[in-house]
Amino acid sequence: MTQLPLSLWEAEPILSHLSAVADELQQPSYLVGGCVRDYFLTGSLVPSIDVVTVGNPTLFAERLAQRLGTTIAAEYRRFYVAVVKWDRYEIEIVASRRESYTPDSRNPTVEPAPLEEDFIRRDFTINALYIGLHQQEKGVLLDKFGGIRDLLAKVIRTPTDPARTFSDDPLRMLRAVRFAVRLGFDIEPKTYQGIIDEAYRLQIVSPERIVEEFHKILMSPDPVRGLKLLYDTGLLKQFLPEVAALAGTEMQQGYAHKDNFAHTLKVLEQLLEQRPDASLWLRWAALLHDIGKPVTKRFDEKLGWTFHLHEEVGAKMVKSIFQRLHLPLDERLKYVQKLVRLHGRPIGLADEGVTDSAIRRLAAEAGEALEDLILLCRSDVTTRNPRRRDRFLQNFDRVMQRVREVQEKDNLARFQPPIRGDEIMKTFGLQPGALVGAIKETIRQAILDGIIPNEYEAARAYMHQIAPYILSGKPVPEELRQNPQDKKRQG
Ligand code: CTP
Repeated sequence: MTQLPLSLWEAEPILSHLSAVADELQQPSYLVGGCVRDYFLTGSLVPSIDVVTVGNPTLFAERLAQRLGTTIAAEYRRFYVAVVKWDRYEIEIVASRRESYTPDSRNPTVEPAPLEEDFIRRDFTINALYIGLHQQEKGVLLDKFGGIRDLLAKVIRTPTDPARTFSDDPLRMLRAVRFAVRLGFDIEPKTYQGIIDEAYRLQIVSPERIVEEFHKILMSPDPVRGLKLLYDTGLLKQFLPEVAALAGTEMQQGYAHKDNFAHTLKVLEQLLEQRPDASLWLRWAALLHDIGKPVTKRFDEKLGWTFHLHEEVGAKMVKSIFQRLHLPLDERLKYVQKLVRLHGRPIGLADEGVTDSAIRRLAAEAGEALEDLILLCRSDVTTRNPRRRDRFLQNFDRVMQRVREVQEKDNLARFQPPIRGDEIMKTFGLQPGALVGAIKETIRQAILDGIIPNEYEAARAYMHQIAPYILSGKPVPEELRQNPQDKKRQG
């Protein structure tokens, strides 16, 4: 029997409250799941606390809420679950229970049961660690399946036959991958084989639950490893067959095309190297950028392998993926589609001869996503030839330089001085016409040339200086048309 130091109770007052309620109700109760696992990994208590109680969870939650001066935050009586929120904590109180599943449904029948039955319903040994809260077992660690051994060995393992654990709730297969990438653990071989065997059962899990887990994997410190594991176990093709279909190469007349799944992972990896805090949707865009390739692939006698229009086709596929997985069909979808559709465009705009309007069209179509698009394009360069690589990257620098130049030109073209036509007309008693335009344009040029600051008072004073010349048809003298800095330099 392992007894933990009770100093934890002093450091975390919430534990004393939980223990007091367990004793008051005479209900054996335990900390369990992620908070125990993470306590052993980090030495501190996470805010999301799971408590299993052998008895009535609602009663436990009511008493706890009373002690803490709050009320029950949520209750799911059918599942014997109640939630209390206090301070930084969210405490989920669950009855020790038995869960029975039917093969075609994910929704178990739940009934209260002795703790021995609660042990075996847990997904992994590292999540099946219990720490006693009530007096008789306060601080006692119950580790029925070697969870501590597996934490030390950095291993994800199911407590019982993996086929049973996974067929009870197939989502656990994604959880195995998530814990592996989040904690840097390996999946134990029998558990791994169990995932391969049961992967097809993911079909009965709702898209929302799948996506929630998948997003945790995508946002983990190592999504590339997560995606490899998902592919190797056969899980990926259950919910993202379009991405799984990127894998593999084909040979024709001695020419093989690259493995687009390996390429996609490399793109994601390079993207995260450049921007480790990339948003979820930028990660999605990297993952989906080439999904149009398998369906547009052709072998051309002269050109070799081509993937003509794969960007456009891919962007359409993004929508059907989002619909199928119940992902948001709003501006987030549009953003991912945009990056997929445009990811081949910038490289074609690197040549000297490209017109301003082609550059302008790209900037307008990409809008606010332009920087992310260029980042994706840079990450898309996966050639191992350093000279080719440098050339591509320099090309993207050049495109961005052109975008900046064109934007500057456009900003200047749109620039209006702080003196309006009405004021010029009123001041000099003019009718609308060429003279008003000439005065305004001279002021505009003076601001652009840095002769006067872009401010109302300065522009007004300057207007009074130059207008007499313009109105009398004489040229504005040189000293009024020269930047003071330039004048000093010449002097
Ligand atoms: N659990 C399970 N099967 C699931 C989900 C959860 O057996 N499909 C059990 C595990 O024992 C898990 C506990 O319920 O540890 C709590 O689940 P949850 O809060 O979803 O995950 P945590 O393990 O706490 O991990 P995290 O909070 O990091 O997601």
